[in-house]
Parts: sequence; C-alpha cells; structure tokens
Amino acid sequence: MADRYLHLTGTAPGRFLTRRLGLPQPVPLRRWSREAPGLDGPLLHLTAGESAIGGELAKVLAATGLPVELRAARPAGIVLDATGVASARGLAQVHAALHPVVRSLAPGGRIVVIGAPPSSEDHHQAAAQQALEGFVRSLGKEAGRGSTAQLLRLPAGAAPTVAESTLRFLLSPRSAYVSGQVIELTAAAPEPVADPDAPLAGRTALVTGAARGIGASVASVLARDGARVVVLDVPGAQNDLVRTADRLGATALPLDITAPDAAARIAAAAPDGLDVLVHNAGITRDRRLANMPAERWAQVVEVNLDSVLRTTDELLASGTVNRGGRIVATASIAGIAGNDGQTNYAASKAGIIGLVRSLGPRAAAEHGVTVNAVAPGFIETKMTAAVPFLIREAGRRMNSLSQGGLPVDVAETVAWFAQPGSAAVNGQVLRVCGQSLLGA
Ligand SMILES: NC(=O)c1ccc[n+]([C@@H]2O[C@H](COP(=O)([O-])OP(=O)(O)OC[C@H]3O[C@@H](n4cnc5c(N)ncnc54)[C@H](O)[C@@H]3O)[C@@H](O)[C@H]2O)c1
Repeated sequence: MADRYLHLTGTAPGRFLTRRLGLPQPVPLRRWSREAPGLDGPLLHLTAGESAIGGELAKVLAATGLPVELRAARPAGIVLDATGVASARGLAQVHAALHPVVRSLAPGGRIVVIGAPPSSEDHHQAAAQQALEGFVRSLGKEAGRGSTAQLLRLPAGAAPTVAESTLRFLLSPRSAYVSGQVIELTAAAPEPVADPDAPLAGRTALVTGAARGIGASVASVLARDGARVVVLDVPGAQNDLVRTADRLGATALPLDITAPDAAARIAAAAPDGLDVLVHNAGITRDRRLANMPAERWAQVVEVNLDSVLRTTDELLASGTVNRGGRIVATASIAGIAGNDGQTNYAASKAGIIGLVRSLGPRAAAEHGVTVNAVAPGFIETKMTAAVPFLIREAGRRMNSLSQGGLPVDVAETVAWFAQPGSAAVNGQVLRVCGQSLLGA
C-alpha cells in the first residue's frame, strides 16, 4: 500500500508544512539495484585508541569495493574500530573519533562500530563494550536522512575476514531498513565465494510461504543471487505460487507446512539436498487472550512455531540440509515487544528466537549448518495493509526512519544469512524494523 505521507514530505510544500508542524521527516531509502549496487562515496576507517584486531580490518574493508580513506569530506560510510576500548575512560576515544565527522556523513550513510564481546572476567572491559550498544542505538536515532548505525562484535582472536560478508551487507543499500542492531559473530571461517555477484550459484534454496508477500521477495532475491529455488505454499495459494515460480524459474511445491509428511515431501523435492531453508510461512489469528478460543491459539503456534521445529529437526536428522547449509526462520518484533491481541502470535515468534539461539551453536557443531532469524517490524504487505488506518500510520512512523519497510528489506537480510561467506553469523536475530520503538 502506497505511503502517501512519504510522498508528501518529498514535495517542497509538504516538507515545509510537516516541518512547521514538527511531524516526522522520512526520506526515501535507496535500495540495491543492478545499476547502483553500492554506497555512493568513500568509506572512512577510524580507530578508537588502540585496535585489538590490528591492520587486518583494512584489508576486509578494501574487499567491500568501497574506496577506503582515513579522512573524507563526505563519507558514505564510517567504520569505527572500537575493539580495543576496555575502560570507561577509553570511551572518550569513541567520542573523539566520531564527534568531528558524524555531521559530514552523506544522506543514506552507514555507521558501523566494531566492538568485542563484553568479557565475563574483566568488568571494566565489559562495561565499556556494553556502553557501545547504548551509544550505537542512540546514534541510529540521531542519524536522520536515511542513515543507519550498527554494532558488530568480533570474537577475540578471530580473523577480521569472518566479518567480510556482514560488512558488505551493512555497508550497502541492501541494509537500508536495518538500524540500531547488534550483531555478534563467531570465529567460523567463511566459505569461499567464486562469484560475488552470484554467491548462491550451485546452491538449492527452499522458501515456505513464498506465493506472495515477504516470502515471494525472499525467493526472488535468492534467485537473483544465483540459487536454484523451490517455492512452497499451501495448495489453496497454488495459482500465486505457480506465478511466482514461473517468474523466477523456480520449482513450485504446493504443500501445507503443517502436514505430517511435510519434511519428507520437502526432501523429495530437493534430491541433492538443501543449502538454504527459509521458514517464512506465518499466520495471525488476533484476539485478546480473554476472547481467544483454543483453536486460534493452536493454529498460530502450529504454523509459526511447531511446524518450524518439526521440519527443522527432521530435515537436519535426515541430512537433507547439506553441510554449509543455512537455516533462516522468521520471528517478528511482536515476539520481542509483545502486542495487544497477539498473545498467540507473539508467543510463536518469541519461540522462534528461543529455537535459533539454542540450535544455532549445536547445528554448527553437529551439521556445519547455521541457524538465524529475521525479525521484521512494520513491512508493507497485504498483512499490514489490512491493519486499521491509525494503527498502520503509527506502525509506519514509530521508528528511526519514520517509514515502513519493504519485503525486499527482509529478503536482503535473509540473503546475507544465506551466503556461504556468512558462516560466522549464527544464532543471531536481526530486526529489520528501521529501529522501531517497539521492543527497542
Ligand atoms: N508483514 C509484516 O509486517 C511482518 C512483520 C513481522 C513478521 N512478519 C512475518 O513474515 C512472514 C511473512 O509475512 P507476510 O507479511 O509476507 O505474510 P503473508 O500473509 O502475505 O504471506 C504468508 C504466506 O504464508 C503462507 N502460509 C500460511 N500458512 C501456511 C502453511 N501452513 N503452509 C504453507 N504456507 C503457509 C500463506 O499462504 C502466504 O502466502 C510471516 O512469518 C509473518 O509472521 C511479517
């Protein structure tokens, strides 16, 4: 559904009026396109005090393809290496590095602070590194003009190359609707990618709930990145499903994900195994708890959580998910913040977060597979078009970018999780919500 307010603030009289009234000032976000795939300008590489990871980071930043500079009049991105900040006094170096340059960041710019995990043995280091979280979340709220800020934690002793796929994503238009996030990497080495323009070439991906909305967009972005795609949706959505499949050169699998033989049918549709499994299918059956019949509760938990747990277990146990595979589940900010009328939905989506955090490390150790979740905020789809006008407007504006996201914003995040280079991204829940105030 068109965001008329965003169009209004894009006109001179609309901007004048809304500024006078003190209303939000969203700016159109620039997404990835083949013609303009990268940020438009140099990347400023700064260090707060003494880096704990040394000069290797410079090579990784150079690999993003952006021109890296130590001084830039109008940077499109700023990376601050704060890995060595280990005391409250050391935080002054963070201020000293960013204070003089933050104003010069180009519109739609990216700030990435690189930190270290807070130590359980050194509470001064832990305090300083945790401080970076509050700092970055505040910076995301201050940045304005479509700019974003994130904190990326590198484990002690890990080669900075583990961060390459994540930095490529964060320092690009693909992460347009991601802000105020903290990502904690493991030390797992990235798998080589032959063609950076087709990182999923030769890989097979299956996306559930792919007939429309976010799922169709995920399937489309994974196909763009070179994957052979299988799109799955309920038999009742077969027409849309076949249309999506035809558009992408994908295979359609009409199947209710809650069917007892769902995992077996998925395995049969992917004879060479799956490299990417995206659990996207989801439903809402909203009612306040006092008015909610048991079936409404059960339907939502069954589709959104139980079928995800069941099919994941079976597809891992049968070896259908290949080594180096990527499992991505779909949570929601409702699972983090809670929502009036959504006890069933929020419970199911919080359950996804529990699944990802628990299974991620074990799946990596036992199967060489990562497990992550995307947690969308307000995304412009049929689901949110059905929301009453005032609640919809509030959902759109109550975030640092003052607008709703698009399905492609979620899809780009899933594609980053899915990359062979993202082996170090595991057990993470990334919110794609424009830094929503809900559950912040
Ligand atoms: N749109 C948002 O703002 C938003 C926000 C947070 C989370 N999400 C989550 O993102 C996912 C996609 O949402 P959307 O907005 O694209 O929704 P949507 O309703 O447009 O699409 C969901 C798809 O899942 C399919 N599906 C439902 N039950 C199924 C089943 N049993 N088996 C197979 N397929 C099934 C539907 O037929 C539909 O095509 C969902 O998990 C949703 O909870 C969406």
